[in-house]
Amino acid sequence: MTAIDENPLVKGLERLPVGPTTMTIFGATGDLARRKLLPALYNLAHEGALPEVFNLIGVSRGDEDSEQFRAWAREAIIEFSRRTPDPRVLDALLGGVRYIAGTFDDPETYRKLGEELAAFDAISDDPLNRLFYLSTAPQFFPVIIEAIGEAGLNTHDDCEVRVVIEKPFGTNGEEARELNRRVLSVFDEHQVFRIDHYLGKETVQNVMAFRFANGLFEPLWNRNYIDRVEITAAEEVGIGTRAGYYDQAGALRDLVQNHMLQLLCLLAMEPPVTFSADEVRDEKVKVLRAVQPPPPEATVRAQYTAGTVGGEEVKGYLEEDGVPPDSQTETYAALRLEIDNWRWNGVPFYLRTGKALARKVTEIAVILKPVPHLAFQEEGSIGVRPNQLVLTMQPNEGVSLSLGAKIPGTRMRIRPVQMEFLYGTAFMSQSPEAYERLITDAMRGDATLFTRNDEVEAQWRVIDPLLSAWAEGKPELDTYPAGSQGPSTASRIMEPGDEWRAI
Ligand code: BG6
Repeated sequence: MTAIDENPLVKGLERLPVGPTTMTIFGATGDLARRKLLPALYNLAHEGALPEVFNLIGVSRGDEDSEQFRAWAREAIIEFSRRTPDPRVLDALLGGVRYIAGTFDDPETYRKLGEELAAFDAISDDPLNRLFYLSTAPQFFPVIIEAIGEAGLNTHDDCEVRVVIEKPFGTNGEEARELNRRVLSVFDEHQVFRIDHYLGKETVQNVMAFRFANGLFEPLWNRNYIDRVEITAAEEVGIGTRAGYYDQAGALRDLVQNHMLQLLCLLAMEPPVTFSADEVRDEKVKVLRAVQPPPPEATVRAQYTAGTVGGEEVKGYLEEDGVPPDSQTETYAALRLEIDNWRWNGVPFYLRTGKALARKVTEIAVILKPVPHLAFQEEGSIGVRPNQLVLTMQPNEGVSLSLGAKIPGTRMRIRPVQMEFLYGTAFMSQSPEAYERLITDAMRGDATLFTRNDEVEAQWRVIDPLLSAWAEGKPELDTYPAGSQGPSTASRIMEPGDEWRAI
């Protein structure tokens, strides 16, 4: 098989084979398992996309038995699946589910796990691939990995053993390096799948399809024609019940270090020779190496105060349950980044993200330079705007290009019009959830949509200096009312004449 045959990005919509697997979820009764992982497994089962032999073992501290866990998993799937479950598919999936109650640092937990894994092998008369999914609080990642190693579960005959590690991968560069060291003392890099769920989104992968399957854009994709790039990941929701995690993390760690830097990489990277995992990731690492950590004055940090989101009154961040009243944690972050390489030198990349903003939108806007000369009469020129190409990841997934067009009539007057491609209309099918794609890829051993060890460290290299500056209060923490466009100071980091698109 050639790399192109193997690669999902160039394969269209068909399904690829996945070897028989027993998957183990650590933290199986947690929120991520309930809302995302179990529903994703159901939808894969529904589409016949799970391997013919598929078993699931849940490991968690709760002292349920397998029967109780299956009942809980059924509820979770019914509540959160994107399609109404078919009882026969659900029963078949849950038939292969077992539960182990135990703490993550107790060797006994891994002895029982070894027994269950062996029992599943015995039932199918063959050793099965193993996928360990770490969906726990991050302090358990190294504990679980090392215990798996000590129990000898990190290799298995000729089968594949793989481990998926959830975010956050460290809370700074030093922690990430240490975690990499501990993970790689038990597993080889090709067995390790660090999740960034944005890469599992169809519309995020479309950035690559769009750039590398169309000759139209490549000649323009550089400093000569692109004036600036704006990447936005705005959310309507506040922090909900996640104060414990969020107040320690903040917007910079929660969304910028991972998801937003990934979007930047996909937009800015050079075309890989093939879409193999290492070649794509090599190109992303090169982009990250060329990004200079921004000085504090090229950044904005802010916190939401009480306001109105979608007609509902919302508390301010400091009033949220579990948030210390003097918290300095940012719920909004904006950065001006530069990429010091031949293609992008001098083009500002503006990134912003925030909770409790006017609406949910994730988009990349590429704003082209203005035309060099306007030959229309003064009045005709008024509506002429530089072309904007907007890739929208969510909601209203699609791509739109603004063009200047003549307003019908005897006079030459121009106004922008939109050329739009909408995912829903063009493909008439519901996109799978990010986790469906990522779980399948991990079972297949395709790491293209996962973060490599050097990549995650390169992301922290950009963010680390900001963590220190922000901890010293540079720049000062601003505020914004919930439901707004963000702090009024957000354009302070922009070059003269640039402005944020409306959220
Ligand atoms: C997660 C963050 O990684 O991404 C959350 O921890 C955030 O704070 C979420 O809400 C956003 O993901 P999505 O898929 O809803 O855009």
